Amino acid sequence: MTRRSETLRGKSGRKFNRRDFLKMSGAGLAGAAVLGATGCGGGGGGSGELIFSMGPDDAQGTMATLIKRFNDQNKGFKVTHRVMPADTGQYFDKLRTEFQAQSSDIDVIGGDVIWPAQLAANGWIADLTDKFPKSEQGKFLEAPLASVTYQGKVYGVPWYTDAGMLYHRKDLLEKSGFSEPPKTWAELKEMANKVVQDQGVKYGFVFQGDQYEGGVCNGLEYIWTHGGDVLDPNDPNKVIIDSPEAAAGLATEASMISSGAAPQAVSTYQESQTDPAFMNGTSVFARNWPYMYALAGTSDYPKVKPDQVGMGPLPVDDGNELASCLGGWDMLINANSDMQDEAWEFIKFMTAPEQMKFRAVKATVLPTRTALLSDPDIKKLPPVAQGSPAIRHTHARPVSPYYSDMSLEMQDQFNASLKGDVSPEKAVKTLQSNLERIIQQGS
Ligand code: GLC
Repeated sequence: MTRRSETLRGKSGRKFNRRDFLKMSGAGLAGAAVLGATGCGGGGGGSGELIFSMGPDDAQGTMATLIKRFNDQNKGFKVTHRVMPADTGQYFDKLRTEFQAQSSDIDVIGGDVIWPAQLAANGWIADLTDKFPKSEQGKFLEAPLASVTYQGKVYGVPWYTDAGMLYHRKDLLEKSGFSEPPKTWAELKEMANKVVQDQGVKYGFVFQGDQYEGGVCNGLEYIWTHGGDVLDPNDPNKVIIDSPEAAAGLATEASMISSGAAPQAVSTYQESQTDPAFMNGTSVFARNWPYMYALAGTSDYPKVKPDQVGMGPLPVDDGNELASCLGGWDMLINANSDMQDEAWEFIKFMTAPEQMKFRAVKATVLPTRTALLSDPDIKKLPPVAQGSPAIRHTHARPVSPYYSDMSLEMQDQFNASLKGDVSPEKAVKTLQSNLERIIQQGS
């Protein structure tokens, strides 16, 4: 089944644009005239619809605002946001199912930084190397740019970047006599327990321990901040997760619950459970992405005010380097889209400095353009203040065409270890052989 026949059966008929029609009919003007008469002419000057897939707009409505601004420019096509699942794993599965059935009429994909290798290896996204020359690439932060680069080609434009960070309640820490946030995980536990005891706050620390992609990010942060890793940095086909450092990392994660610093429920927490736990004032500390800062003091979360919230890099195991998981989202184009030029127009708009700044200031989603990090309005935002140490110490999850399979294994083992169902040593051993198998089968 070709995409075109799929399009023909589509109920909106949105892809019944001029180019499609000419291609389908093999004719010329006659087709165009009929098309004009039906009033559903498309891209490149008509009234085509460009489908942009992305999760729900939870960044203070900024995505909808920008799409509207773009559409108001009347470029000759209209962008429609197709709302995909908020959970990145579920979103990816949906996308993959559509691509495998060759049935996707999505044009631009808002895609997680972990996706491009896999989407590119399958030929599902367009090579943008010619549209996005080296001179432009140089304006972007290295790590997000690496996420869209696969086998020397560039498959997308970095849209916004994420790094796992430690949030703390400045007022509560101060009241319990702490002048700064914890530098080590051991200090975090102590401080969390003390503030909870002193001030009767419900929780000490909340984070994302559920069995899903965010749980992988959290688990990896414990592994990295203990000096462990998943793959050998010098040989990406070599799995090295079965190490004392990685096991110690997972042991520290589990100790957040066993020490009482974190509630048992964090083993089912995603971002959407973390937000209210911290922003309703029920937790002293939280691990989350930068966007959560912008929620403070909004009508959804009036209790905790922005000036009560402090942010900084995640703690480490004593003596180790700072580390946080590289997150973020890229803009990619469906290789089969009939609107390649229009898609590029839209991507250029969304990733232009003005739009990135708007989202950063209003919703603390961080820009991927290096220059913007020194913009006065942006560099004073708490997630990037003090030279943005978390952003400078990000680690990428494994870059692999099989990442989604590797992730499922990590989701399983990290969550089981957090709940105490398997020991950290057993978890990393199991992962060692399961990840090796995935890599061997793939190569
Ligand atoms: C954020 C990150 C993304 C990560 C996801 C996990 O959206 O930007 O990279 O995979 O959280 O929940």
